[in-house]
Amino acid sequence: MYLFANCVAFFKCDYEGTRRVACVTSGGTTVPLEQRCVRYIDNFSSGHRGAASTEHLIKMGYAVIFLYRRGTCEPYCSSLPDDAFLECFEVTKESAVQVCQPYSEAVKRAIRDHHAAVAGGLLLKLPFTTIFEYLQMLQMIAVSSRSLGPCSMFYLAAAVSDFYVPWKSMAEHKIQSGSGPLDIQLLQVPKMLSVLRKEWAPMAFCISFKLETDAEILLEKADMARKKYGMHAVVANELLSRKEQVVVVTNNGKIPVYRDKTSSDSDVEKPLTKLLVDRHSVYIKDSNT
Ligand code: PMT
Repeated sequence: MYLFANCVAFFKCDYEGTRRVACVTSGGTTVPLEQRCVRYIDNFSSGHRGAASTEHLIKMGYAVIFLYRRGTCEPYCSSLPDDAFLECFEVTKESAVQVCQPYSEAVKRAIRDHHAAVAGGLLLKLPFTTIFEYLQMLQMIAVSSRSLGPCSMFYLAAAVSDFYVPWKSMAEHKIQSGSGPLDIQLLQVPKMLSVLRKEWAPMAFCISFKLETDAEILLEKADMARKKYGMHAVVANELLSRKEQVVVVTNNGKIPVYRDKTSSDSDVEKPLTKLLVDRHSVYIKDSNT
């Protein structure tokens, strides 16, 4: 209920203006194996794609709901070390805590930019861990975004579990290792992309991602997903090259997008979000005529 009210308030203040709102999903969902969870199956995703894309979308004038896996990359933290809290600060001789010199500028910039985005109503961060939390939160965001019509965008970069253990058949307590090999049946998680398009937010501009490790099947599978789930674009990426290049698959063709290799601090998310924002503009214009 709190989450729903939060999203509605976020959308409301933007709807009065002309602001576009993007829901960026990021990180991997987990599948618990026990109700009092000790063990779980995880999905690979560092959250870098979602966090970097969020920063670029905010720069291009979007307000962003960042639906992310707890503990993965967050916007404005990419220039900080992994254990930022411990590595960025040091204790002085007088036992005061201060920012270490090498990180001084990066920390100030991260804090300033993050504060400006949140205080300006441009960033709402909502964490999830399990597949159950993710799907419920996505539904609430989508339903409460309906009033924005074509001005809302879903940028589904999260790595979502394909298989799960239903709550009713899940062991309550920690599964005992002494009982021998583990035999669990995993059911298929229903793909929520069609439901999102048809029921939850039918007017929204929807972008899903397709990750494969085999380049041979990547583009064909991305195009199949686009048609099957009615996506406006599918971003196809291969595990090893995902930080250098992606291919945006649309009904007009396949557009490769590359990181600018002449600049060391560039990322592929900048040209990728620019392309998708341009497509979103065309979509909004077409929807209003
Ligand atoms: O986070 P990084 O380390 O930077 O890596 C980024 C990324 C590789 C994780 C990202 O670019 C990416 O490809 N994300 C999608 C990975 C994925 O789960 O692909 P998929 O083929 O399993 O799913 C395709 C789409 O279906 C996804 O948009 C997903 O949101 C959706 N899906 C998946 C399963 C499911 N049960 N329901 C869904 O709706």
